[in-house]
Amino acid sequence: MKILYAASEARPFIASGGLADVAGSLPKAIRSRQHQCRVVIPLYGTMKQQLREKLTFITSFQLPLSWRSQYCGIFEATEGGVKYYFIDNEFYFKRDTLYGYGDDAERFVFFSKAILEMLNYIDYEPDIISCNDWQTALVPVFLRCFYMGSEKHRHLKTVFTIHNIQYQGQFGMDVLGYVLGIPSYQAGILEYNGCINYMKGAIETCDMITTVSPTYAQEILTPWFAHGLDNLLRERQYKLCGIINGIDQSTNDPATDPAMFHNFSLETLEERKKNKKALQQHLGLAESDDMLIGIVTRLVSHKGVDLIQYIFDEIIGLGTQIAILGSGDSQYEDFFRAMQERYPGRVSTTIGFIPDLSKKIYGSVDVFLMPSKSEPCGLAQMIALRYGAIPIVRETGGLKDSIKDLGGKDGNGFTFQSYNAHDMLDAISRCKQLYDQPEKWSEAVKHALQCDFSWDSSAEEYIKMYHRVLGDQ
Ligand code: GLC
Repeated sequence: MKILYAASEARPFIASGGLADVAGSLPKAIRSRQHQCRVVIPLYGTMKQQLREKLTFITSFQLPLSWRSQYCGIFEATEGGVKYYFIDNEFYFKRDTLYGYGDDAERFVFFSKAILEMLNYIDYEPDIISCNDWQTALVPVFLRCFYMGSEKHRHLKTVFTIHNIQYQGQFGMDVLGYVLGIPSYQAGILEYNGCINYMKGAIETCDMITTVSPTYAQEILTPWFAHGLDNLLRERQYKLCGIINGIDQSTNDPATDPAMFHNFSLETLEERKKNKKALQQHLGLAESDDMLIGIVTRLVSHKGVDLIQYIFDEIIGLGTQIAILGSGDSQYEDFFRAMQERYPGRVSTTIGFIPDLSKKIYGSVDVFLMPSKSEPCGLAQMIALRYGAIPIVRETGGLKDSIKDLGGKDGNGFTFQSYNAHDMLDAISRCKQLYDQPEKWSEAVKHALQCDFSWDSSAEEYIKMYHRVLGDQ
C-alpha cells in the first residue's frame, strides 16, 4: 500500500502545533509496518537553515490556479527513513508565520492543487492521499472536479482527518471562481451557510473522514462540539471514524531528552526529584515540596483557561505552586502575568511557545493540568505521563480516551466531567490528597512512566482503515 500523507506542517521540519507531531510520527510508524508512506508539506521560509540544507531540488512546473499560472517547485528530503516532499513558492510561503494572512484561502488552495499536480512529475504513485485539516481539504475536492479524466489520478482514494473542527477554512463566495477556479454549478460541494467552507468540501468528497480520537468522533456529531458541521457529519456518519493519536516515544524519552535538567527513567526516579528543584530555580519559584502544577497550552478559550482563571486563588489556597507556559489571547496572558505578581515564588508565568521549556516542565512538575472545553485528541497529557507528571483533565475527546481516574481501576490521572471550575478544583484536591501520601504517589508516578502511548496499535488501525478505503477488506 502506498500512502501520501499531506499536511501543512510536520516535524522535524516545521511545527506550530499537534498536527506537526502526528505528521512527523504516524508516517514513520506506517512505514515500519511494511507499507510505503511519504509526506508532503509546504516549504516555509521560516524552516531552520540546518534543516533547509537537507533538501534537494527535484523539479518545477507551472501550476494553473483559476486565471493564474504559478511557479511550483518540488524539493525532497529523507528523515527517519521517511521521504518528505516540499512544495515551494516563495510568494506564498516565505513569510514570518505559517498561518493568519489575508490570502490564506489562496495559499492553501495552491498547496492542495500542487499536491495533486506533482504526481505528474514525481516517481511515486500513491493509492491514497491522507489529508489533514482545512489546509489540505481541497485535495479531494479538486480530485473530483478536475482530475477524474487523468490516468494518474482517477484511481486515487482520499482520507480526510479532522484535527480540530473549529478551524474549517471559511471564506467569501468570491474565492470559488476567483481562486479555486471551480464553476458555479459545482458550488454546492463547498458552499455552506453562505460561505465557501473547505472542510465541508472535504467531508462531501473524500472516501473516509477520520478524527483523532473515538470520543471526538462521537462529539462532533453534536452541535456543542461541531461548530456548525454536525448535520453534515451525521449524514456522512457511515464514513466517519476516530483513531487516537500516539506519540513518538523515541523523541519523547526522559532518559535521553537533551532538554532535561537531569535525564531519568523508571530505575532512576530520584533524578526526577532533582529536576523539580532545578525547574523551581530556573523559574524563580520557591524551592519547596509543595505540589507543583504545570500548565503548557495555547492560551485560548477552548483549552479551558477560564476555569483556571475562575478559581486560581483557590488552587493556590490548596498549598500548590503553578508554572505556566503558553501564549494566546491577551486577556489570559495578562491574567497569568498578574498572578505571578500576586504570588511571587508560588506562580511562574512564561509567555511564548518554547519547546525546550515545555519539556523541562513535563519532566519536573508533579501534576499537569489540562481542563480543555474540547480536545480532539491532545498530546500533552500523553507526553506528561511519559515524563512522570500526573495529568488532571476534563473528560472530553482524546483526554477521555487516554486518561482514567486514579479513583478507579487502571487509573493514570485525575478527571472531571462537567465544564465547571469547582469540579476541576475537586479533582485537584483529590490529586493533592494522593500527593500527600508519598508512597502511593510514587506508585502513581511509576505507573505513569509505564503507560504506552506509542503509535503501535493506532498505526495498525490506520492501516486497517486504509485497507477498507481501498476495498481490500
Ligand atoms: C489539534 C487538536 C489536538 C490534537 C492535535 C493532533 O491540535 O487540537 O487535540 O492532539 O491536533 O491531532
